[in-house]
Amino acid sequence: MSIGIFDSGVGGLTVFQSISQIFPQVDIYYLGDSARVPYGNKSKETIIRYSLECASYLYERFRIDVLVVACNTASSYALEVLKNYFDIPVIGVVEPGVEAALEVSTNRKVGVIGTYATINSNSYRSEILKRDCNVDVYQKPCPLFVPLVEEGMIEHPVTYLMVKEYLQELVDFGIDTLILGCTHYPLLKDTISSVYPNLKIVDSSKAIIDKIKPFCSKEEKGTRRIFFTDLSSSFKKFEKLLLADSKIEKIELSELCKI
Ligand code: DGL
Repeated sequence: MSIGIFDSGVGGLTVFQSISQIFPQVDIYYLGDSARVPYGNKSKETIIRYSLECASYLYERFRIDVLVVACNTASSYALEVLKNYFDIPVIGVVEPGVEAALEVSTNRKVGVIGTYATINSNSYRSEILKRDCNVDVYQKPCPLFVPLVEEGMIEHPVTYLMVKEYLQELVDFGIDTLILGCTHYPLLKDTISSVYPNLKIVDSSKAIIDKIKPFCSKEEKGTRRIFFTDLSSSFKKFEKLLLADSKIEKIELSELCKI
């Protein structure tokens, strides 16, 4: 049993880590397209093309059984295309995040934060309203959270200021639940919670686990391989997300662009 996970960069390692801990027996291949990050400010066409290239690489090289689209931006724009293109289960992060939020929200006022592309796609809003049209959805792009996380400024005063700057408006609308609709944001969960302790925070990297369970069988300990299309200093900041026995491998972008 093998799972391929891709993201635009390092943020999806939050998803890799969650899946890895819960399913130690599964072979997991992670691809971070760090040479072309961010996806969050690209056009729909480009996001779909990059997503197809990442997924094809994992599918053709490792014959993966399940594809996990860890990137919220890619899940928002490319999920249907990927589902039609590949003959294996394709799981994105939007649906599990929405289901988890609807389970915990009591006042039916839900906030969603993500990249510009994810928020503009309205993917979270439409998945929520498909399930419950009585929910009020308040969305907000939080683009500066990504570089703050990549700089390792998780507990920096600037990050606390940005949390208030971005989220106060949603809190003033009365949301009781906040969906972290971007791979990087789970690393800010504690920071957000310390500013807004009453907010129920939904982390899609955890919510996705239930979607993967049906495909996992019990086997011996699985392989872990992590690939990036570019290696930069931000990796140091993400080391704590990696399993001790995982090593990072570099692949050339040209290998991805063959399809
Ligand atoms: N991985 C992206 C997401 O979850 C965030 C970084 C980017 O813009 O590529 O939306």
